[in-house]
Amino acid sequence: MSDKAHTPTLELKNVSKRFGPVVALRRGQITLMPGSIHALVGENGAGKSTLVKIIAGLYERDSGTFTLEGKPVNFKSTAEAKAAGIAVIYQEPTLFPDLSVTENVFMGRQPTGAIGRIDKAKMRSEVIGLMERLGVDIDPDRPAEGLSIADQQIIEIAKAVSLDAKALIMDEPTAALSGVEVERLFQIARGLRDEGRALMFISHRFDEVFSLCDTVTVMRDGAYIATEETATTSESEIIRQMVGRDVSDLFPKETADIGEVVLEVEGLTSTGNFSDISFSVRSGEIVALAGLVGAGRSEVARAIFGVDGYEQGKVKVGGKNLPKGNPRSAMDAGLALVPEDRRKQGLVMDASVARNAADAIRSKLTKAGLITAKAENKSAQIWARNLEVKTASLDAVAGTLSGGNQQKVVLAKWLAAEPQILIIDEPTRGIDVGTKSEVHRRMSQLAKEGMAILMISSELPEVLGMADRVLVMREGHITAEIPRENASPETVMFAATHSADEVRREGQDK
Ligand SMILES: Nc1ncnc2c1ncn2[C@@H]1O[C@H](COP(=O)(O)OP(=O)(O)OP(=O)(O)O)[C@@H](O)[C@H]1O
Ligand SMILES: [Mg+2]
Repeated sequence: MSDKAHTPTLELKNVSKRFGPVVALRRGQITLMPGSIHALVGENGAGKSTLVKIIAGLYERDSGTFTLEGKPVNFKSTAEAKAAGIAVIYQEPTLFPDLSVTENVFMGRQPTGAIGRIDKAKMRSEVIGLMERLGVDIDPDRPAEGLSIADQQIIEIAKAVSLDAKALIMDEPTAALSGVEVERLFQIARGLRDEGRALMFISHRFDEVFSLCDTVTVMRDGAYIATEETATTSESEIIRQMVGRDVSDLFPKETADIGEVVLEVEGLTSTGNFSDISFSVRSGEIVALAGLVGAGRSEVARAIFGVDGYEQGKVKVGGKNLPKGNPRSAMDAGLALVPEDRRKQGLVMDASVARNAADAIRSKLTKAGLITAKAENKSAQIWARNLEVKTASLDAVAGTLSGGNQQKVVLAKWLAAEPQILIIDEPTRGIDVGTKSEVHRRMSQLAKEGMAILMISSELPEVLGMADRVLVMREGHITAEIPRENASPETVMFAATHSADEVRREGQDK
């Protein structure tokens, strides 16, 4: 092997970063080797994204060393990091919506023709070549607006490849992708690895870490813990290092008394989104809405809650019709919706954690008379503690929390409201393994106390572990209703990929 293969592409050691009194990173460390994919794992708030932002040139480290192919670097801006061959892909890329795919790839460095003008044809053909190389089919002339998150990430990757980036850093890229899109991203990542590039991948999903990555570094409380080869370590070993204790019993569902029907959905139809959706949820019951990403599950949830309208059908709560497109009356009727995109739809970024956590119960809190700040803080405290929200204080601005901790604040807010009917979209997405079981425990307990829960989840173990009944959706239709005792990875996946007729026929054959 040549020397180059032994020199790390990128190496950080003993890196620290604080924000005022908050120590985000105490002892960050990672070594990326060429031709290798390296996972970075750790609980919410462990310092992963902070380390990424230092690599990206977005933050300057307070102390520690950072070398690129053996040479010390000190980036003062993202432009410097980019120029040095570092590409960072965030969960939600920030393309220019009005510009074309080609223009986005070449943003900031248009090639010029002989007379110094932008050579559009050259740019376009290079993008076509890049897309071919990555094995994807994206029109180079279309605007970035309207592209799926998965496609937007691919464009960021194309940009990195065209700049011949040495290191490609991905911070939770799969959080908003469907299974097929994840597989496509992984294929591209493997291809880039085989070209000799160094890749870093952050995810809370261990199946992804183990299927994609060669090595894995664990962080805890802002500090480096260990680096292992994925081939010789195990999920439970990594979890132990991450959490500092054994985590078992991920889905401790308790049996609840199932009562009256509280939510009824009849023939709900919204052209292009979903059609003829009918089901009911009883008090004490957890009903899962399973299926592939894009099957229309979130759209159904939004229509029930009244964020979106629908053309036909009815939603009834406790036997009474709920007016269409009116979240206020849905809330008054005892409904709550915890949206999928919690950060965008559920959080006031520049308000305090306490304010955010108490948002859904503010009317309850003020009804009692005076209150506000104190009551707000008390309720926030209880729920923040339950869900282990990692924050310097409840007065901290929500926008400064780590991604997963922001998710927890939104969950806390809705769980505190104790609605009669809780619709919860991807309850544990972006949430670390230690808190996942806590979220499940709370849901289970709330059902036991009589809450009716409709849970949308793309994670099969979560669906199978939590649901009393599984409704499976595919392409806007419900294709199967499976009671807990018959729900298995096979039955759910079959229904998620077949029509209702095919599912019925398969059932009769058995
Ligand atoms: N700009 C900031 N101001 C104040 N505190 C910050 C800031 N950025 C990060 N922090 C704090 O630093 C800690 C580490 O956050 P970081 O985003 O790196 O975590 P993470 O490992 O990426 O977590 P997650 O899995 O939830 O995304 C958190 O406690 C966070 O609140
Ligand atoms: Mg993060």
